[in-house]
Order: sequence, then structure tokens, then C-alpha cells
Amino acid sequence: MPDRLDVSHSNYDGDGLRSLAPPGWVHSAVYTDPKIFDLEMERIFHTGWLYIGHESEIAKTGEFKRRQMGRQPVIFVRGQDGVIRVLLNRCRHRGAVVCEVDEGRDNFFRCWYHGWTYSNAGELVSVSGPEGYGPSFDARENGLTPVPRVENYRGFIFAALSENVIPLEEYLGGAARMIDILIDAAPGGELSVRAGYNRTTYKGNWKQVGMDGYHPLFVHASVLATWERDADSGHSLGATHSANPFSFDGISETRDFGHGHTMLDFREHRLKHGGKLRSLLENTPGGKDYIEALYAEHDSAWADLLLAMAGDPHVGVFPNLQLINNQIRIVNPVSVDETEVVMFPVLFARASTEINALRLRQHESFYGPAGSGSSDDAEIFERVQLGLGANLDPWINISRGMERERVESDGTIVGHISDEVPQRAQMSQWLAMMADKPADGRQ
Ligand code: FES
Ligand SMILES: [Fe+2]
Repeated sequence: MPDRLDVSHSNYDGDGLRSLAPPGWVHSAVYTDPKIFDLEMERIFHTGWLYIGHESEIAKTGEFKRRQMGRQPVIFVRGQDGVIRVLLNRCRHRGAVVCEVDEGRDNFFRCWYHGWTYSNAGELVSVSGPEGYGPSFDARENGLTPVPRVENYRGFIFAALSENVIPLEEYLGGAARMIDILIDAAPGGELSVRAGYNRTTYKGNWKQVGMDGYHPLFVHASVLATWERDADSGHSLGATHSANPFSFDGISETRDFGHGHTMLDFREHRLKHGGKLRSLLENTPGGKDYIEALYAEHDSAWADLLLAMAGDPHVGVFPNLQLINNQIRIVNPVSVDETEVVMFPVLFARASTEINALRLRQHESFYGPAGSGSSDDAEIFERVQLGLGANLDPWINISRGMERERVESDGTIVGHISDEVPQRAQMSQWLAMMADKPADGRQ
């Protein structure tokens, strides 16, 4: 174990930050110190790529969603011209937010403070009392500020507040092909993210949520027991779980694709146990057409995989996107010890109502307000945050599987499902963005 490291007076320069995360260990200040959180906002959330939303959420012109990039509120909107934009939610007059509702459809954003009005493409179209501004005032210079980088990966919109980021596909790397497991599971690749969302807040640090294959046997023991009992009932898409994928002698894996992107890789497990899901689909109205469509659109090996995975890549894209079960999940850090998680169930636009109903029921059963899983997770994250307050011994251990991981030819690091490959991947990207950058935080 590293020596006790007192960071109470640390100014967290590059070496100071690196000393917080020696191989296999993390200092609890990484999860508890507000100064670290401030640096994360600046160097990760206000600099690098963040997931913003799916294009189907704003399929119609004028549709908008309020989103958050670290501490900066933004509007995700499709303008009258059909173009998707990410605009700072900040009036160019004296800075009030111009969009105060979570979502809607409108032609204009009108600031409540003094009435400046912007089109849904962000142009300033009217100023109240225009005679008060001289000829030098140029409305074209006072539109809502666009976020400098916006890119679209097959409908998944990402943005960065810094110009200076690598192209999105390069950033996603090997994780992009895993996102395809969700997209291609929808006939025509057409996802529909319009079924509402669940929002959860827990009193814990944002880096705790998701991508841990070691905890389900314990945190979700009662859920796993239910799945096991119901494995043969065939009543839900939970048939994918007909065998426990988390067991210590199982074949599931963890993956580190670089840039902090990770996967709980159930592919082999689900290919082996996918038969029940297939027969459930065959007996669901529209199921046979759905299966046919996948084989018509893809080669049979990929279609086999898509069917077995049921659109669940179980992948985490650093720092704020996770595709888990039937949902797109956005992680919004609120403060060093508070995190908001927003979960959007994903439907397949061209699949039958019955198939989509199964997807929704499965989502609700684990992640819904009365679901069996999300509350377990939130509870344990809060217990961790409480425990980390006892920092006389400040180190947490993320070394599980370090001595048995392997590296594939493309650099992907692979471990057993219970190994802490994802936790180490996250810390390695964290260090790259926090400690290895120039002081201005730019990439
Ligand atoms: S702050 Fe928006 S109009 Fe004044
Ligand atoms: Fe969990």
C-alpha cells in the first residue's frame, strides 16, 4: 500500500495529481475533495467530448432539450432549418438562462429578464426597446453562443466546449463498434429515444456509477435470485439473464478500449445463452419480422450477436455516457459528493409495439422508480461516500485482476468480468486529462 499521503494543503500540480493514483490505488481525495472536483470540471467536462443526446430526441424542427456540460447549461435543439445545434443556455444580454424547462418544442427562446428573443437556431431576432442601442449594435454578433465542437456518431450527438479536441471517432476508438451493438439491433439502425426518462440523484461522487462487474453478486443478490427463479418463465426480455453472467468462474469479461471507454463484455455468455431470448421474440407479435430484418441487414454472425445482446452493449464512454441494458444513461456531476443520473429507455423505431413494450418493461423492472436495481446502486454509492470520509487511511484498492489481465493486438486491455479493468481505465484517462495537460486545461 502507498504511504499515507496528506493532501490537505496540496495545490494539485501534475505530480501532485499523479501521486493520487499509483497503479492499483486511488486516494480518496479523488472522490471527496472539492478542489479536485473544480479541476475535473475545467479539465474534463469543460474541455473534452461529452455525450449530449440522441438525434431522435429532437426529431422535429424546434424540439429542444436542456442539457448540462459540467457546470455549463446548454440547449440541445433542432432549428427551423433542420440543423441540430448545441447552444449555451445563456442570454447574451446579462446572462440569464433563456430556456428554463427540461424539454419542449418552440420557434423561439425568449429571455424572461428583459425580453431578448432568439430563434431556435440561436439567432437574436428581437431586442426589447431597440432604440436604446446605437448603430454599432449588431444583432448578428449577439446570437446564443454555439458550443464549438459538435459531432454525430450514427445519431449519438457529442459536443466539446474546447475547439481543441481530437475527432470524435478517433476519441471513441474501439468503443464505437460496441455502440453499434445497440444501433444495429434496431431495424434500419433507427433508434427512438422518445419514451421519457428516469432521473436519479445520489449523494456520492460521479466516478462511482456503472461499469463494475464485481458488485452485482452482492449489491443485487436479491435481483439475481429472482432472475434465476424466473429464468424459465420466458415472460420478459430478462430472458437474456437466464444464466448469471457475473459468476467468478464465468466467461464474461471486462474491457478497456483506451480514452477511459470500457465494457462489461457479455458477448460470449449471451451467445451461449441466447436461445431463450430468441424463442421469446419468435412468440412475440412482430418478432419473426424483427429477426428477419436483422438477418437481411447484417451478416449472420453479427445478426446472431445482435439478437443475443438485445441491444445491450454494456459500454461506458468516458466521462458521461453509458449504454446499459435498454437505456442510454447520462452521468451529470453536481458536486464532489452529488451526482445526477438520467436514464433514457431506448426503443426500436421500426419494431412492433409488443417488442418495444418488452424493452420498456425490462427497463422499468431494474431502473424504474419502483425498480429493483437502481436503488441498490444509489444506496451503495452513498455508503462509499460516507466511508471515504474516514480518510486516516486514504487509499482505495482497484487492483483486482491486475496480474491476470491481457492486452489484445489493438491495445484493448481485457480482464475477467469481476476484475477492475474499467476502474483502472477510468483512472488512466482521468490522469491523462487532469495531470498530463498544460495548466490551461487544453488538449
Ligand atoms: S438577461 Fe436576457 S434580456 Fe436581459
Ligand atoms: Fe449495480
